[in-house]
Amino acid sequence: MKRRHFIKSTGLSTLTALMGSSFLLKSCHTEEDMIGEPNWIVEGGFDTPLPTLPYAVGNVELNAKSISGEMIDGKITSILSYRDGLLGPTIKTETGSNVNVRLDNALSEDTNIHWHGLVLPAHMEGHPKDVTASGNAFQYSLPITQRAGTYWYHPHAEGTTARQVFMGLAGMFIVTDAEETALQLPSGEMEIPLIIQDKRFDGPSLDYSPTEDEIMSGYLGETIVVNGAYSPLASIANTWYRLRLLNGSTARVYNLTLTNNIAFHIIGSDGGLLERPEHAMNILLGPGERADVLVDFSSLTTGTEVFLVSDKFSKYNEQGRQSFSILKFKVERSVTSNFTLPSMLSSISRLAEASAIRTRSFDISGGGERHGGIGGHTINHKSYSIARVDEKVQSGTTEIWEFDNSTGDEVHPMHIHGVQFQVLQRIGGRNELDVMEKGWKDTVLVMAGERVRIIMTFPEYRGLFVLHCHNLEHEDDGMMLNYEII
Ligand code: C2O
Ligand code: CU
Ligand code: CU
Repeated sequence: MKRRHFIKSTGLSTLTALMGSSFLLKSCHTEEDMIGEPNWIVEGGFDTPLPTLPYAVGNVELNAKSISGEMIDGKITSILSYRDGLLGPTIKTETGSNVNVRLDNALSEDTNIHWHGLVLPAHMEGHPKDVTASGNAFQYSLPITQRAGTYWYHPHAEGTTARQVFMGLAGMFIVTDAEETALQLPSGEMEIPLIIQDKRFDGPSLDYSPTEDEIMSGYLGETIVVNGAYSPLASIANTWYRLRLLNGSTARVYNLTLTNNIAFHIIGSDGGLLERPEHAMNILLGPGERADVLVDFSSLTTGTEVFLVSDKFSKYNEQGRQSFSILKFKVERSVTSNFTLPSMLSSISRLAEASAIRTRSFDISGGGERHGGIGGHTINHKSYSIARVDEKVQSGTTEIWEFDNSTGDEVHPMHIHGVQFQVLQRIGGRNELDVMEKGWKDTVLVMAGERVRIIMTFPEYRGLFVLHCHNLEHEDDGMMLNYEII
């Protein structure tokens, strides 16, 4: 269903009914504004200290459970948790290690863990068929063979991924290696993982209950949290920082920028370091994507406040109709540092188009017609079936895949498990590559009207993997296929 047509044909009274009680309808917004973005972001006072998620090294235990009494924005709610708060620990390891993670499932439903961006044996990587039942445990053994990068983890059971992530189950997974360590990038308290998410509440309770229309557009919350905290404040020194940005939202795209005319120096994308830092004033970050950036706060005087903001981007997508602040940095200490931005970071060998043995096309334009709540989102006109193998690829070979959203009207962050890819070309829409798309990627934003071509070599790990839209409402609605590496 095309959303605009849906709104036209049902009218505003239905829309108001769909919106429920949790929306803040400010009188200054016209009806049209509310249709474009019904759940207007509500900013807070930016005085809650930014939480540092605990680091986990070595043998990790994640205990998935429901807990209550958690505070978000002064509201006391139930959440799902791997520890004792929103979001799991930040797992940190190095290339060549083996990470053991025990998952205990104390939820009342199936769950599992997918290691987003990591290249792992099929039975360890969290395919929707490999779930751990309520009351059971699973021991993940993760051989880390790839380069340094900002990866992450979250549940991936069929049909419940969005809700489990939204309710609190997700964490960052950082890999370091010798090449990266040699760069002596800002570290310790100058390295800040930031998981950005949007939440919605029904009264005091965190509420995941998308309507059919919200399954089409994505479930957009009015409360932005970073590392689980609403309207946070990061106390910083006047020096260089490394921010590892992860969009852990189910559907919201952020167009990140800093106030005070401060630039991002992008050093890494989904799959690790870029070849050289890329200067950017804005970063468009879709669900599932990461940006590794350096920021120079050294010219700021004590007391200066800088906001991390999401800017409008409505020329690409109607969810980008509002600009809002996400996090406040406040310079509260002065230090001396002699860090200088490296001119070279890494080298990336380009996969040649001519080395591809075939091209596969994936039609992702199908917003689909919904019939009784099922079958809304498709890839190649197919809705996900856990037992069907949709594509077979040969280990060690290189292919070009094409995600075609040229006649669609929704944004789809397309993600492939089990592999890192390079982006070749974007045709239509923005018509060009983003600077982060010069590096390795596992998720790529395909806006309405765009066709994006990527290239990748399939690893040695044989077995079943998935590709899907990382708008998690779309994924749970069937926008996912199985592919097998043979
Ligand atoms: Cu983070 Cu299958 O995804
Ligand atoms: Cu993934
Ligand atoms: Cu999608």
